Amino acid sequence: MPQGFFITFEGLDGSGKSTQLRKLAQWLEERGESCLVTRQPGGTRIGDRIRALLLDSHTEAVSPMAELGLMFSDRAQSIAEVIRPALNAGKIVLCDRYTDSTEAYQGGGRQLGSEIVRQLHKVMCGGLNPDLTLLLLPDLRRSLQRARRRNHRNASRQGTDEGRFESEDESFYQRVFDQYREIARREPLRVVAIESDEDIERIHERIVNIVEERLAHRT
Ligand code: TYD
Repeated sequence: MPQGFFITFEGLDGSGKSTQLRKLAQWLEERGESCLVTRQPGGTRIGDRIRALLLDSHTEAVSPMAELGLMFSDRAQSIAEVIRPALNAGKIVLCDRYTDSTEAYQGGGRQLGSEIVRQLHKVMCGGLNPDLTLLLLPDLRRSLQRARRRNHRNASRQGTDEGRFESEDESFYQRVFDQYREIARREPLRVVAIESDEDIERIHERIVNIVEERLAHRT
């Protein structure tokens, strides 16, 4: 049985990570790889409900600890129901956000600190770490503008409301950004940071090169 490979995409809202994830999935499938694409929060029935609760801008007064707990509850469900079975079946799992998001947003943004996030990760995620994390860090202000425009568009077209995080101020996002950089500094083997405003195709090429190289060394 071939071993699975776990890739996560990370970055600020509007960093282009979801677009890059889709393009990588397509590239892998064209090469004959069997992929599973998922996201957090969400990707399971329980997770989708947690997602709706957490991202709805009408959800008020969530305590940072409650938010932290919900992110990990979502993740534990996703690991049990989606990620572990796919890895066990030898698939390449592409996940849009994982524990680094919690360390950046709740640890950094909400100022709960990294330690608690890392402890919870150990307990709730059973030590499941990505084989590779692609961290997209283009310019902070440009990312936020893109995310806000998209949320307004989705809200008016589809009636979805996922704007709770995007309504945070810039200092929140600066802390998220700084924490992401710190994670990349701490774990240079797992995390590849792409701090670039290049166009979608150029970044896709860079990602493909990184993934090809890592897959060649897959055990
Ligand atoms: P996502 O749908 O990936 O947003 P976007 O497409 O705008 O990047 O993620 C939803 C939001 O949830 C995003 O603002 C980040 C936040 N989030 C956390 O705060 N902590 C977490 O652990 C995760 C997974 C997401």
